[in-house]
Amino acid sequence: MIRAFDALTLPLLRKLDAEYAHGLAIRGLRFLPPPRKLKQDSPRLAVRAFGLNFPNPVGMAAGFDKNAEAADALLRLGFGFVEIGSVTPLPQTGNPRPRLFRLERDQGIVNRMGFNNDGADIVLRRLAGRAHHGGIVGVNIGANKDSVDRAGDYVRLIDTFAPVASYFTVNVSSPNTPGLRSLQQAAALDDLLGRLTEARERVRRNAGETPVLLKIAPDLSLDELDDVVQIARKRKLDGMIVGNTTVSRPPTLREQVRAEQQGGLSGRPLFKLSTRILAETYVRVEGAFPLVGAGGIDSGGSALMKIRAGATLIQLYSSLVYKGLGLVDEIKTDLLSVLRRTNRESLSEIVGADAAQITAEDWPA
Ligand SMILES: Cc1cc2nc3c(=O)[nH]c(=O)nc-3n(C[C@H](O)[C@H](O)[C@H](O)COP(=O)(O)O)c2cc1C
Repeated sequence: MIRAFDALTLPLLRKLDAEYAHGLAIRGLRFLPPPRKLKQDSPRLAVRAFGLNFPNPVGMAAGFDKNAEAADALLRLGFGFVEIGSVTPLPQTGNPRPRLFRLERDQGIVNRMGFNNDGADIVLRRLAGRAHHGGIVGVNIGANKDSVDRAGDYVRLIDTFAPVASYFTVNVSSPNTPGLRSLQQAAALDDLLGRLTEARERVRRNAGETPVLLKIAPDLSLDELDDVVQIARKRKLDGMIVGNTTVSRPPTLREQVRAEQQGGLSGRPLFKLSTRILAETYVRVEGAFPLVGAGGIDSGGSALMKIRAGATLIQLYSSLVYKGLGLVDEIKTDLLSVLRRTNRESLSEIVGADAAQITAEDWPA
């Protein structure tokens, strides 16, 4: 059914303006009839991380369902978890269009959306309306572009969303809000994470445990990464997502003209860099908390490489544009067949198996 849906819609969607096609996809998902029988994941694919039980490790990355309109449909399609957002306290229109560009020949995307979203009030109402359906739905939080107290925005969002969020992702790594990424610098990050872990403890009383993860840019230098990991460990964060889109442009890109568009690059051309930074993060974290790997996953093989580089969970977005939603099932099937072939009971046995080796390789071009 999903494959037939992909076969019908993908060629058409790809002919349309990228953002218009995205809007259609969200609307299509909202009206997709629920499958008659939900397919259960094999218990071998189950993952336990930051106190949550994930039915499988494949998540929908932030930015696809910014406004929490399609979380249930995405869970039904087989994602083990869905991250909605980024949400900011106040609604925002984002940057002027066009702001989303496909790099077809590279299977990449450049975006400079700029946190366009409906704002906390509306998104909260939507999440509250679906809360009884269950499933793991994380809330990715960001600061308003014109905010005078960006750290205060994140605190406010934790207070607001704690009753409906399975976990929070603190997005300080979007390249499309000027100055946002400077929150990754040591002093600012230490202050921010101090305030956020305080908020996490405060909301625990009424909302229970809500893990807080930090999402970083793949463009950090290794010195910066040293600081970020050290602060995240000191502040007892629950996990990190590695990572967001890159402002770099690999020299191997074929769509050179489109690649000049300002914004963050994602998809296949991001795979090598984001996997290297993931492995570098893994060796620094030393098991203190789990990592979520994102960037260029587009097959069972690349999902496995992320896990072996250090990811306990994985997320994807860009490859769905090129390969369709059937990819989720394909990745799960491939991961399961690797487990069966190698006689392993769970993916946790191979998380980080290649991290040391990857960090010894030449820096990816
Ligand atoms: C169009 C678009 C919008 C995105 N918006 C967000 C966002 O709002 N917040 C965020 O943390 N990441 C956002 N991302 C980044 C993705 O969540 C993900 O980290 C990145 O694209 C790498 O994964 P991929 O190569 O599988 O796409 C966005 C990505 C794309 C392509």
